[in-house]
Amino acid sequence: MERFQNYIKEVIDWNDHIKTFLNSENIDRNDDIWGKLNQLTDVIEGISNPAELNQEQLLNLQQQVDHLHEDLESYFTKRQQIGSIYMNEPFVNIGEHKLPPLPYSYEALEPYISREIMRLHHTKHHQSYVDGLNKAEKNLKEARTKGDFSLVKHWSRELAFHGSGHYLHTIFWDIMKPKGGGKPSGALLQEINKYFGSFDAFKKHFTEAAKAVEGVGWALLVWSPRARHLEILQSERHMLLTQWDTIPILVLDVWEHAYYLQYKNDRAEYVNNWWNIVNWRAVEERFDKASQLKWKPF
Ligand SMILES: [Fe+2]
Repeated sequence: MERFQNYIKEVIDWNDHIKTFLNSENIDRNDDIWGKLNQLTDVIEGISNPAELNQEQLLNLQQQVDHLHEDLESYFTKRQQIGSIYMNEPFVNIGEHKLPPLPYSYEALEPYISREIMRLHHTKHHQSYVDGLNKAEKNLKEARTKGDFSLVKHWSRELAFHGSGHYLHTIFWDIMKPKGGGKPSGALLQEINKYFGSFDAFKKHFTEAAKAVEGVGWALLVWSPRARHLEILQSERHMLLTQWDTIPILVLDVWEHAYYLQYKNDRAEYVNNWWNIVNWRAVEERFDKASQLKWKPF
């Protein structure tokens, strides 16, 4: 009988463990898998005294646990695995881009970037890129459906403008953090030293590139999967002068909305201060993933 009791205890623990996991992965409460887990919980809770369970009831319970096990396996195989993170959605449907939440509070980057800038930048500017990208994707889908491409030039421009705006800002939030700064380490530092000579030489080049962006735009540290080295680029607005076929690793927003309320026209001070909030761990992770891409060199 003790064996039965131990088994029931194991099932209860397992059930709790899976629920904690689903919670941590933000799996929708309406998802099938929650329903199945809750069914099992009901069964377990219905067992008032495990010692009184007969052979047949125990077999029944075992069967239910086995089925749930299989369901969970196939559920997680269907979800796309990226690194050790399971993604709820393997891709973004047409016109369904969403504003990503900031990985910290609006005031977290103070005194280097004020709360007011972060709030406006995220909720107004980034949101408008998301909306513009969704609108462009939907209109291009409509053009494909109707076979009417008379406005293709306009929507392609919108797609590039808002798409780059959405993707670059999404990276921008992630590659900053409170109490950041310092230097990267590991493979990224090695590549920086190899290509730019030293971290200081790279930092000087990136700083100068950011300060000298014509009008509004970005400074970007990119990895070229073809040349297999890093590079520093400037982008006017979001998409002009962009070197395609590269992957942004570190990006700095030098649009006026990113600093003007606090720094007025002193972009240089903003760029200098920005180095204090770089999240190098996030940059290293981007580099690790990006550098796995390899194409034939020419
Ligand atoms: Fe921006």
